Amino acid sequence: MSQGATRREVLLQALTGYALVRTLLWQDALAGPVKQEAQAWLSRTHQLCADVRDRKLAPREWQRQVEALFHRVPLSELLRAIDADRLKPGLELPDDRAGAMPAPLPRIEGLPRVFGTKLFGLAQGRAVVPHGHQNMVSMHVVLAGEFHLRHFERVESQPEHLVLRPSIDRVSGPGDLSSISDPHDNVHWLVATKGPAYTFDLIVDRLDPALGFAWRLDYVDVDGAEPLAGGLLRARRIEFEEALRRYGKT
Ligand SMILES: [Fe+2]
Repeated sequence: MSQGATRREVLLQALTGYALVRTLLWQDALAGPVKQEAQAWLSRTHQLCADVRDRKLAPREWQRQVEALFHRVPLSELLRAIDADRLKPGLELPDDRAGAMPAPLPRIEGLPRVFGTKLFGLAQGRAVVPHGHQNMVSMHVVLAGEFHLRHFERVESQPEHLVLRPSIDRVSGPGDLSSISDPHDNVHWLVATKGPAYTFDLIVDRLDPALGFAWRLDYVDVDGAEPLAGGLLRARRIEFEEALRRYGKT
């Protein structure tokens, strides 16, 4: 217990355990305008995700707006909102891939929650292996460490291959954002160049209920891709196990 703990804090910890107390204190600790800003940010997150799920907002527009929204949120606020310090010790960092666990944002009363949120953690040299996505959007904030971040446009889906156009290739550090959707920056690949490295992921799936599945991932062998005219790449579809063998650990 820190010296500055209030009686209420002491009482709450005794009654409810540490995790819940942290959430309550986060909500309590935000005074006046700061609290209002956090509430507005969380409400807006709920709204944008509901709109893309309800098809009132195009996936690409969701990417723009949710990235703009999270750009304005100080990283310290996001870390506090998901209680990252409490989550991190419980997240295993596997030797051959990224580790992941749920990282709930505080609920906003009266707004339906149609999104998922996760904390991803990677030991140095491990990767979120190259993969495309179907029927979902997601946004990723680097919380700690450093990544070599690459994205590709999915130009064409073939039975055994994806035709890709490189779209993003940069070093991505704390506070940097990226996102995917079916139409834009669909394939991504994140190598943890300085670890341990963490991202916060915001995900909405089942965008088209008619497809009959919530979401799908398509793993691809980007390094072994055949170069095509115009800077395109023809990358072989591979199984998850092969993706891990080739890309999970460098
Ligand atoms: Fe992904």
